[in-house]
Amino acid sequence: MDDLREKYISLIAEAADEATLEDLRVQAVGKKGEVSLQMRELGRMSPEERQVAGPALNALKDEINSALAAKKQALGDAALDERLRSEWLDVTLPARIRRQGTIHPVSQVTEEVTAVFADMGFAVAEGPQIESDWYNFDALNIPGHHPARAEMDTFYMARAKDDDRPPHVLRTHTSPVQIRSMQEHGAPIRIIAPGRVYRADYDQTHTPMFHQVEGLAIDRDISMANLKWCLEEFVKAFFEVDDVELRFRASHFPFTEPSAEVDIRCSWEGGTLKVGEGDDWLEILGSGMVHPKVLEAGKIDPNEWQGFAFGLGIDRIAMLKYGIPDLRAFFDSDLRWLRHYGFASLDVPTLHGGLSR
Ligand code: PHE
Repeated sequence: MDDLREKYISLIAEAADEATLEDLRVQAVGKKGEVSLQMRELGRMSPEERQVAGPALNALKDEINSALAAKKQALGDAALDERLRSEWLDVTLPARIRRQGTIHPVSQVTEEVTAVFADMGFAVAEGPQIESDWYNFDALNIPGHHPARAEMDTFYMARAKDDDRPPHVLRTHTSPVQIRSMQEHGAPIRIIAPGRVYRADYDQTHTPMFHQVEGLAIDRDISMANLKWCLEEFVKAFFEVDDVELRFRASHFPFTEPSAEVDIRCSWEGGTLKVGEGDDWLEILGSGMVHPKVLEAGKIDPNEWQGFAFGLGIDRIAMLKYGIPDLRAFFDSDLRWLRHYGFASLDVPTLHGGLSR
């Protein structure tokens, strides 16, 4: 028994891995192991001999089993130590610049626009991108037969074959948020609503998904003059200049009366887009006085309240401000483009900081 003990205790101590330990376990205390075979001999012993050998063999078996368990634990600890050493990582180091993401120009410009209008007392509102036909069209005085529905290149959602209700749409503009906000808050109200909108259109200045900011101001005596002042203040603050030239063109929208489209002077010379100079105009927004029927759809009494609304293309003014010639590149997820045109994540736009930095 002493020989067995000495043999296995030293073999276990020398074992270099778990497989060796398992072999040793089988050899010593497995069914046909050396210690087990000795135990079978007990039956042939006299009761006196058995009384001594039995407990001794059991003790030996226990001793080998606990040596095996202790060694197994030690091997596991050593393996973990080794892994921790080789996979060591200093989490307090700053991230490598190359791996830092950037803020997309659309996100940056949305923040900038929000900051300027927030300063004029506008609150931020939101609405769903999948919109009912009523909110996107009817409530905005665009009835079923109206040509504006066709002009908008609307994406329609699918309906079950036997369901003849009008299909939902991907909202074609942020104007449905006007209705939702009026219904929710009533008058007076002053909100802007930034978000994604969708139209089936694709070229250098159009993508099927793009971004707008809706503006809405309703009170007892709000006029076109207030609209013009707000937009001019906005454009000056946003482009960080005193002399941006705007052009108000008489226009038509079913949801405003009168209506005006606003263009901004720019140049495309040499393939770079510059704002405030040149002989070209880029349309950046539609606007007008909210139509009485739209106020009614929003549960506001048109005999008591009036106001203006506008819808501004965020991507358009991002192109203008940051000289980005092709809108399609905005949504290509090309890392080189994102690094070139993106913004540092800690530079939050503020008015006192001049918005962009
Ligand atoms: N919803 C219009 C569009 O997307 C823009 C607009 C908004 C015009 C509000 C007037 C008033 O073209």
